[in-house]
Amino acid sequence: MSQKLTNFDMVIFGATGDLAMRKLLPCLYQAHAAGLLNAEGRILGVSRSNLDTEGFLKKVESDSKIHVKQNFSEALWDSFVKRIQYLKVDVTDKSDFDRLAERVKARQNTENVIIYLSTAPTFFAQACENLADVGLNGDNVRIVLEKPLGTDLKSSQEINTDVAQYFKESQVYRIDHYLGKESLQNLIPLRFGNVFFEPVWNKQFVKSVQITIAEQLGVEERGEFYDATGALRDMVQNHIIQMLCFTAMERPQSLAGDDVRDEKMKVLKALKPLTSADVDANVIRAQYTASDSQAGYLQEHNVPADSRTETYVAIKAEIDNERWAGVPFYLRTGKRMAGKTAEIVLNFRENPQGLFPNTPNRLVISLQPNETVSARVFMKEPGNGMNVVATEMSIDLAKAIEGRRAEAYELLLREVIDGRVNLFNRRDELEAAWEWVMPIMENWAQSSTPPHGYAASSWGPEAARELLAKDGNAWLEDQQ
Ligand code: BG6
Repeated sequence: MSQKLTNFDMVIFGATGDLAMRKLLPCLYQAHAAGLLNAEGRILGVSRSNLDTEGFLKKVESDSKIHVKQNFSEALWDSFVKRIQYLKVDVTDKSDFDRLAERVKARQNTENVIIYLSTAPTFFAQACENLADVGLNGDNVRIVLEKPLGTDLKSSQEINTDVAQYFKESQVYRIDHYLGKESLQNLIPLRFGNVFFEPVWNKQFVKSVQITIAEQLGVEERGEFYDATGALRDMVQNHIIQMLCFTAMERPQSLAGDDVRDEKMKVLKALKPLTSADVDANVIRAQYTASDSQAGYLQEHNVPADSRTETYVAIKAEIDNERWAGVPFYLRTGKRMAGKTAEIVLNFRENPQGLFPNTPNRLVISLQPNETVSARVFMKEPGNGMNVVATEMSIDLAKAIEGRRAEAYELLLREVIDGRVNLFNRRDELEAAWEWVMPIMENWAQSSTPPHGYAASSWGPEAARELLAKDGNAWLEDQQ
């Protein structure tokens, strides 16, 4: 490989935790197996568990290896784990940080030290202070913050302020794994690298936009976390809003530095604030209810029987700018829905001339389960006359473009190693997203109206269908 790979020391806090075992280490393995990690790059797992490197590697062997999804071979795995060491570090114990600094500095890899905080955000402030005390916050250090970054605007601001006491914004990498999805990033070349999309990508041609993340799974074993969180915080404030920003933003001046983040920020600023009356009229919250053999949300483990936490939310949003004014953006996400999908749908306006009525075009950009871009195009039906029928022009990215498609976390980890900030949330973006969802949270906190219900494994509540119907629109599954 001719490309120079950046050397790195990656320190993972919370190394025995679920995210490290299920995602971070398997994804680092995948990068290693693909020859995309510098041969000298080292991973240092740290946590409170009283383990040594040998003990940690046993845990990695039993809990992490099974999560490798691509390119597994025992030989490559053996060479991968040679990169890994372990050190017991209690975030609250300053003397542990002296040992940590010694370990990191002993290697004299001045190029690039990455600190990945895969712990609860309540530990972030203390961890940053202790890192700074031992000099692990210099310009060669990057800090990665795992979500959830707060539970509302205030707590998110507090976390960011704490971290900012010790790290410059340019050193901070806030994870939203949706930004690591290839097909979300693909929106940039799709829109700005092909002449025929951008001219119609605006209010003159687009009637409405839909952004959906639907999951088939319920809350599984995460009842306690989920009940304190809900779909708005878990999915809308971050992933859905990121999809919205990529869909709606203007062309960035370049793909480097902060240019993309600047454009996303402009979208966030243009998002019309929701009044409490808007929330009543244009936001639907719902919980899944028992259906066939599937339990309802209120019967799930660790969920209180009187919980009002939403497992589904649908929102009609508007973007108050030149390009989008008046175009509804319908956003929705839910657990236990009829399918697993993440997609962006542009519904185009009716053809203004009368030759072919009822032929609205549609573009569907699917992030998962398959990465596809499909346009509904009307074509002549064979035979006499000029009847037209709807056909589909579709590109399956995995088939059309050769090459390994990395998992989102792998891609993001490589971006951190290389020091590219584009695919991470800047502080102002994150806080603007919280600011926008706050009126929804405040309205719900005061509302006496319970969430709607939707049958497990359905496409959501009737109320969400009505939300679109009153504008003469319909969700994708209800369209012809
Ligand atoms: C996470 C949420 O951020 O995203 C989970 O906390 C959710 O509740 C997950 O299941 C969905 O990610 P993906 O990549 O499977 O769509």
